[in-house]
Amino acid sequence: MTVTITTPRLMAIGGGALAELPGLLGRLGLARPLIVTDPYIAACGILERATALLDGAQIPWSVFSQTVSDPTTAVIDVGVAQLRADDFDCLVAVGGGSSIDTAKGMSVLYANGGRMRDYTVPNEIPNSGPPIVAIPTTAGTGSEVTRFTVVSDSETDEKMLIAGLACCPTAAIVDYELTLSMPLRLTADTGIDSLTHAIEAYVSRRASPYTDGLAKNAMGLIARNIRTACAEPQNRAAREAMMLGATTAGMAFSNASVALVHGMSRPIGAFFHVPHGLSNAMLLPEITAFSAPAALDRYADCARAMGVSEEGEGSQSAVARLLDELRRLNDDLKVPSPKAYGIDRTRYDELLPVMASQALASGSPANNPRVPSSDQIIELYRRVYE
Ligand SMILES: [Fe+2]
Repeated sequence: MTVTITTPRLMAIGGGALAELPGLLGRLGLARPLIVTDPYIAACGILERATALLDGAQIPWSVFSQTVSDPTTAVIDVGVAQLRADDFDCLVAVGGGSSIDTAKGMSVLYANGGRMRDYTVPNEIPNSGPPIVAIPTTAGTGSEVTRFTVVSDSETDEKMLIAGLACCPTAAIVDYELTLSMPLRLTADTGIDSLTHAIEAYVSRRASPYTDGLAKNAMGLIARNIRTACAEPQNRAAREAMMLGATTAGMAFSNASVALVHGMSRPIGAFFHVPHGLSNAMLLPEITAFSAPAALDRYADCARAMGVSEEGEGSQSAVARLLDELRRLNDDLKVPSPKAYGIDRTRYDELLPVMASQALASGSPANNPRVPSSDQIIELYRRVYE
């Protein structure tokens, strides 16, 4: 079997790596960035730190700071108009996955025209657009290294998955110091998102020896540090491990794909505006229980990588420990059920067929070790509700 791996050309990783921004642009021959960010990053001082570095290197810049969580086609259209209005040669995305995903959408539409919907999986993206330098400020999505973007269609509310080389950033700056001020809920939700990436990449039908190492490494880093990062936001070692885990998990799932959890998570996020990591967390224990019988040894490896099972313990009992740990983690991090989150039961039930069909259409469930039918997906949605 041959695998084709996609990664950024350049990555600067470590505390203070933000300072590498001007040098990194120079090495790539880029001189005129449009910065893509959100109003919080624009106000909290992080944007200013980035622009001061650019000013110091006499690199002219402009800012598009209207990105929203769960990026929409409407916001991307505004961003593309700004991108076309001047002679920018690259995008510098500063923020969480939403800002990075917005920049990806802008780059794709700039180079290819049409609408975001034209490029949803499994459609190809013909041309790569302006290069993207991604600077994550959360330890979660891994979008700084992935060939995916997720964009909500402003007309239908559907969360569309768009994939291809054109979506992979050219460079990433992975600086855990930018995450030190992340609030508890964001730390927990984004952390569980990256744990889900690592587990799904490892059990995916498209996993390879290359992605396996990255995924196991990420699981170890995240599982051993997520509680500390939540309890002690200023704990630099925990923040550094979470950031590295998130990026490493991103490298794994970008090249092995995610699976059923993400497939089912996107419709919950789209219809009920649940943050992405939280909707993953709501699903992760039950989906793992559903899927594990089809890949017991792989899930047992996850338990070992996360440090909840000893080497040599049988797969069945290791998987039981994995399920315990995932449920305990949700308890410890106060992850609500859809019901406790306030999602209306009637509307949830009404939408289940649409949610199941969107989940299947995304292609992610087909990578799961146990591929569910539409009815089984609906049943799983029902099971997690309370
Ligand atoms: Fe995710």
